Amino acid sequence: MITTGTSEANFLALATLVSTGDEVVVVMPNYMQVHGIATGMRARVREVWLREEHGWTIDLDALRVAVNARTRVICVCQPNNPTGQILSQGEVAEIVRVADRHGTWILADEVYRGAERSGEESPTFSGRGERIIVTGGLSKVYGLPGLRIGWLVAPPERVEDALEIKDYTTIAPATISEVLAEIALERRKQLLERARFLVNDRWPMLEDWAGGRSRELHWTAPAAGAICFFSYKYPIDSMALVDRLIREYSTMIVPGIHFRAERHLRIGFGMVPRVLHSGLAAIDRLLTSLD
Ligand SMILES: Cc1ncc(COP(=O)(O)O)c(C=O)c1O
Repeated sequence: MITTGTSEANFLALATLVSTGDEVVVVMPNYMQVHGIATGMRARVREVWLREEHGWTIDLDALRVAVNARTRVICVCQPNNPTGQILSQGEVAEIVRVADRHGTWILADEVYRGAERSGEESPTFSGRGERIIVTGGLSKVYGLPGLRIGWLVAPPERVEDALEIKDYTTIAPATISEVLAEIALERRKQLLERARFLVNDRWPMLEDWAGGRSRELHWTAPAAGAICFFSYKYPIDSMALVDRLIREYSTMIVPGIHFRAERHLRIGFGMVPRVLHSGLAAIDRLLTSLD
């Protein structure tokens, strides 16, 4: 079903699935919308963190422990926002197995799928079982966030439930956006190529910069998306750091605390090279002032 952005698809998926007292497992860090909605639905959110020390890979043992008969849904983001890491085929299959064992749904937000640096599309959750909902949209890889077009792919009864709620959220997508989305999707191949070109074109500048800052900033290089996630050791919280960056250097990045990961920073690198260059230089100046 077509939705008003991936965010509406995520909302409808959770609103139709989750009730007070259910448990929701959120693989973290994650796009915090799903965490917020589950909390708003009065579910008990259990976080299963990707292991930073192992390149932000999933801890399948921790997942097995967190999922039980009360778990209504497991929320994953594939490729992951904010780390840019990708679950392997084996990991995706194992997550599905864990969910199946308990009759749990999976909500896989795949809005970054197609922006892999390697050019090889990440394994999808789609088609792997009866209780899978995949969401996505045109905002990232297709570069068309203003159209507000997304989608939800799910078994028919889930879509029917979602349609009932959609009557009270946005009723229908904007007609003009639907027309433009069709035109865009006819050019899917070119748009995906464009996304990969942008990511790979900006990559050397980012990698160079990260190499020069490797004593202060630590990362696992992202495999997908024009985003990367660094940890740092400076004695300043991420919100205060980003606040200074905005006020003193007119540069905005995302503080890790927004992902419940303090002393981390998410840096986007998909902008035009000149802006990326001056943004990274601004971060440099701020970090130097903290040394
Ligand atoms: C993982 C993820 N899902 C969904 C969204 C929202 O996408 P949309 O603009 O399609 O609503 C974002 C936006 O940042 C995102 O990062």
